[in-house]
Amino acid sequence: MEQVENSFDVAIIGGGINGSSIAYQLAKMGRKVIIIEKERLACQASSAAAGMLAAQAEIEQDGPLFQLALKSQAMFSTLSSELFEYSGIDIEFVNKGMLKIAETEEIAAEVKKQVSYQRNWDPTIKWLDGKVLREMEPSLAPSVVGGMYLPNDGHVQPAKLTQAFAHAAVYFGAEIRENTEVLSFIFEDGQVKGVKTTNGVIHSEQVVVATGAWAAKLMRESGLDISVYPVKGECFSVRTEEPIINTTIFSDKRCYLVPKRNGEIYIGATMLENTFDNKVTPEGIASLIERATKLVPQIKEAAWERVWSGFRPQTGDGIPYIGEHPKWKKLFVAAGHFRNGILLSPITGKIVADLLAGRRQDEALLAAFHLERHKETVG
Ligand code: FAD
Ligand code: GLY
Repeated sequence: MEQVENSFDVAIIGGGINGSSIAYQLAKMGRKVIIIEKERLACQASSAAAGMLAAQAEIEQDGPLFQLALKSQAMFSTLSSELFEYSGIDIEFVNKGMLKIAETEEIAAEVKKQVSYQRNWDPTIKWLDGKVLREMEPSLAPSVVGGMYLPNDGHVQPAKLTQAFAHAAVYFGAEIRENTEVLSFIFEDGQVKGVKTTNGVIHSEQVVVATGAWAAKLMRESGLDISVYPVKGECFSVRTEEPIINTTIFSDKRCYLVPKRNGEIYIGATMLENTFDNKVTPEGIASLIERATKLVPQIKEAAWERVWSGFRPQTGDGIPYIGEHPKWKKLFVAAGHFRNGILLSPITGKIVADLLAGRRQDEALLAAFHLERHKETVG
């Protein structure tokens, strides 16, 4: 009978994009790693995402999250070829930029302010008025007032990126155990020693919780209350015979159109807090159709492709938890990446792998992500 290996350097709980990215970095360092996933790799938020790498369109203020997002965004070009080399998977990285659209004069004034602010980090960002915008994207509605052009906000295929991280980790010796739910931790002498799962015990020197919107539930098992709750997002996609848009069209946080490499246009996404009900509703999709067709009327004639939903892991302040448990040594968390988990996945993998290896970090930057910050503000 085949012997099942149950002893590892690091057990990573959760086979989403963050668990997989962390596994990749650790395995590359030579650590013996296992990813434990209760269903299948990339079965939750990491396959529901639109895959935008929208550092500047999504995050409007400078701060630790924004700085991390910029660093992560800059990693994609190299990562794309590196992951292809080790996994054989093309993450479909597209770097044709994004247009943050203003549909009214009032919004245009706001977006123009953002243009001058964002140019502090990227001087290639510029304001384009409606006429210039339509020369660039002729399918945009005549009513569009103008928009911010962000040449460096690209996108990827998120499920493929997750698979690529995981398979590249396997290339460096990692193991993936699917259909295995972690139920609780094993603690001894003030530190974690492994986990109890639906398929038996796994011993490890270090444990990382990367369970996205489910992180609070598991952390309660360790006596720590962290704030992570689901924000459901519904999306749909269409296909056109010829491409009708070239860049990502981002209206606001409730409507964007992302032209994927396979010819689909992803259109997202609704925002519904505190539900794990994954049904896709006519109301949700109707609201997206209304917004999207106002921006790009030709969407009305496109071929319908599919609908889906997923759960963004929100922490309340939109900032993920990255760090070590305050009580139990060697237990780490990387969860709560809310709307930007795909964008932040490369840097999350790197930071967590360095943290576990005891390498020097930018402590001042990491302080913003620590696990007990809500406790301090709640009192
Ligand atoms: P998940 O992908 O949810 O993975 C967590 C995994 O843990 C799951 O597979 C789950 O099954 C597993 N798990 C849970 N509990 C256990 C347990 N006890 N034992 C074992 N396994 C367990 N981000 C962007 O950067 N760009 C975008 O354009 C973008 N668009 C989005 C659009 C939508 C509609 C949604 C919903 C999200 C979007 N996001 C986007 C956000 C992004 O998808 C998430 O932040 C990211 O996928 C979170 O990844 P994760 O690995 O932390 O969590
Ligand atoms: N970042 C896009 C979304 O969360 O819908």
